[in-house]
This record gives sequence, structure tokens and C-alpha cells, in this order.
Amino acid sequence: MQEVTAKIMPRVDSHFIGKVHSVVDERTGVRLVTCEFTLANYQPVLYSELGIVMPESIARAVPKRQAEFLAGRYAAAMALQHLAPVVDRGLQVGIGEKRNPLWPNGVVGSISHVGTVAVCAVSHGTDKDYLGIDVEVLMSARVCREIAAIVANRQERELLKAHGLSDRVALTLIFSAKESLFKALYPSVKDYFGFEVAEACELRLNEHTLVLRLAERFAAKHNLPREYECQFTLGEHWIQVVTCGVFPGRISGAYFRG
Ligand SMILES: CC(C)(COP(=O)(O)OP(=O)(O)OC[C@H]1O[C@@H](n2cnc3c(N)ncnc32)[C@H](O)[C@@H]1OP(=O)(O)O)[C@@H](O)C(=O)NCCC(=O)NCCS
Repeated sequence: MQEVTAKIMPRVDSHFIGKVHSVVDERTGVRLVTCEFTLANYQPVLYSELGIVMPESIARAVPKRQAEFLAGRYAAAMALQHLAPVVDRGLQVGIGEKRNPLWPNGVVGSISHVGTVAVCAVSHGTDKDYLGIDVEVLMSARVCREIAAIVANRQERELLKAHGLSDRVALTLIFSAKESLFKALYPSVKDYFGFEVAEACELRLNEHTLVLRLAERFAAKHNLPREYECQFTLGEHWIQVVTCGVFPGRISGAYFRG
């Protein structure tokens, strides 16, 4: 990460929102905002204090969901500030039909939350066509056993293990990369697609890059490129993946997809 541009944002309140860390990721060029929050200090009034509109669906949700949504949207608001003047202050990130965030015109972005941390990645639409972020806590050995067959085939897991990654790191990384790809491509495909649709086909450990390849039929159906570079960061207990790029054939910020 490019620490030159990193800065700690001021705390808006001293209870719910903790440290906010904002950087431009030097590998992808996207703005990443990480926001710590304390669930025990959540109160609905924080929405108005932080300038975030609480959608009806969230008003009906349990406090934990309200809290993570607020932290994610707060991270998004901080991230969008950096895209001014394209984005007006006060613009809200809405909720799409399938829970996909609705970004202001001219912006691509993505949100993830895990435990007490929310992260948001944004970019100008002139720089990226698709962008997805995912953060996962390292899966336990039990969870790995339970979901391994759903998330990845044996070949994919062996590919990562051949580079010296443990079962837990390998599976969490594949899982997170696929979730980030899903978030990145959902706005284009507008449909749910499962873990079997993408396959880990190359790991460049020194570049922190996992390449996912879409199934031929799926890519052809949606007129999408087949391969995607997923940029990952390995923490001690967590993995973060950012998948972003430009579709081939793009001309002046637009792209031809047939
Ligand atoms: C949608 C999904 C990816 C969310 O991931 P998660 O690990 O449960 O939760 P995260 O905290 O990382 O991400 C949640 C955020 O993802 C975003 N999100 C949810 N649905 C989305 C969609 N359809 N498209 C894009 N982003 C979406 C939202 O911003 C959400 O946070 P919010 O509701 O507070 O705004 C996951 O629940 C899911 O359905 N996965 C199955 C599909 C999949 O991953 N297929 C693999 C294809 S290779």
C-alpha cells in the first residue's frame, strides 16, 4: 500500500467509529478506506450524526446489521470525498435489488465488512469498469473442511498449496478472491453466479496476485473476458482481496461489449 497518501481521518464520534485509514492502493490505484467500529456502542441515532440515511430494509434489521451497514456506508462516504468534484458531498450510496451498492454516476466501488472492520474501495469510472473488495478472517480448519468442496475443486487448492500456502490460507484466499470477483462483476451480469463459475488458475505469490478464470460458457453468455487478476493482502488473521480492471474494447471511458 502507498503509505505516502495514507492519513488518519478525524473521529466523528468517540464511541462507535474508531480509526479510519485511507490510502491509494499502489497496485490497483483504487482508494481504500478502512473503518474500525465498536458494535457495543452502536445506536440508531448515529445514522443522522454521521450523515448516513438509514434505508427501510436496514431499519427493520437487527442492531448488528444496522451497525455494519452504517460502518460500511461511512467508509464509502469517506472514500467518495476523495473523488470530488465528480461526487457531491452528501450523496448516498443506495441499495440495489440484490443488495449491491448503488454508486453515484461516474464511480465504481465495493464494500466489505468483517468483525469490527468495514472497508470500501472506490475509483473513477473513467479508470475502472469493475471493482470488488472482500475481507475475510482466516477460516478455521473445521470451516475449511465444511466448505472446501463448494468453494474450490482439488486442483485449485493444490495449485495454492504447491506454493507453500496452508490449507486454511489457500481456501480463505480462493473464497475471498471469488467473492471479490462476484462483487466486481455483479453490476455487469446482474445475476448470482456460484463459486464453480470461476477457477483459480495461477498464483503469483511475489506479486500477491491470484488469477481467476471464468467458465467459458459463462464468460461467453455475458460477453466478459475470462481472466481476472485478484490482488491480495495477507494479514496475520485475515485476507483482503481487490479485483478491478478495465474491460477490453473500452474507448474514452466507455466500452464495447457487443
Ligand atoms: C454477496 C456476497 C458476495 C457478500 O459477501 P459477504 O462475505 O457475505 O459479506 P461482505 O461483508 O464481504 O460484503 C457485503 C457487502 O457486499 C456488497 N454486496 C452485496 N451483494 C452484492 C452484489 N450482488 N453485488 C455487489 N456487491 C454486493 C454490499 O455492499 C454488502 O454490504 P452492505 O449490504 O452493508 O452494503 C455473498 O454473501 C454472496 O452471496 N456470495 C455468493 C456469490 C459468490 O460469491 N459467488 C462466487 C462467484 S466466483
